[in-house]
Amino acid sequence: MAFIHPMVILLAILSGVYTGFLGWKRFRFRRGRGTASEFPWQKHIQWGKRFYILLWIGSFIGFGALFYLKGEIFTSGLHAYLAVLILLLFSIGVALGGKLSKGKGTNRLALSHLIINYSTFFFVLIQVILGVVFLTFFL
Ligand code: HEM
Ligand code: HEM
Repeated sequence: MAFIHPMVILLAILSGVYTGFLGWKRFRFRRGRGTASEFPWQKHIQWGKRFYILLWIGSFIGFGALFYLKGEIFTSGLHAYLAVLILLLFSIGVALGGKLSKGKGTNRLALSHLIINYSTFFFVLIQVILGVVFLTFFL
């Protein structure tokens, strides 16, 4: 039971990293390197959506599992607070992606999309470490 949440989150992270890898091709083109056709526009959006949906499903499974095991949620301390921060930041990053996908994005908007999404992976890294500690010592 306790492993379902980490597995869904792992799938989300893999999809997110792949989305970021595709996005990098656009970053290069926008700054004069590579060609526009190297960036698979629709594929980036598709994987971005997949990533975002899996992230939410994974998080709800985390809450659900704790509720099932302990009868309450938000008992994991930093892991729970960081989850809220991560969900908030990616929601902003993805919302900017939605704006960009209408084709009216400026360089600055694209850059904000990049910075928010890429830097949130730093918190994801901490979250993974906390998750492993949690799984090993507290459950
Ligand atoms: C549903 C979610 C997402 C949507 C709809 C989306 C949409 C887009 C679109 C349409 C562009 C091209 C913008 C343009 O050049 O006008 C773009 C660029 C980019 N995206 Fe996303 N994206 C999403 C998620 C993500 C995620 C999760 C990451 C990182 C992990 C990411 C990283 C990037 C990067 C690095 C660029 C290039 C930015 C630049 O040129 O400065 N995107 N995105
Ligand atoms: C982006 C990454 C992650 C997010 C957003 C996230 C989110 C959450 C949330 C919201 C909860 C419920 C917390 C509470 O109510 O106190 C939770 C619980 C938990 N998380 Fe995570 N988590 C992430 C990564 C991980 C990873 C990588 C692991 C393990 C390797 C992990 C292990 C756990 C464990 C063991 C619980 C207790 C409930 C359960 O077993 O499902 N988490 N997580």
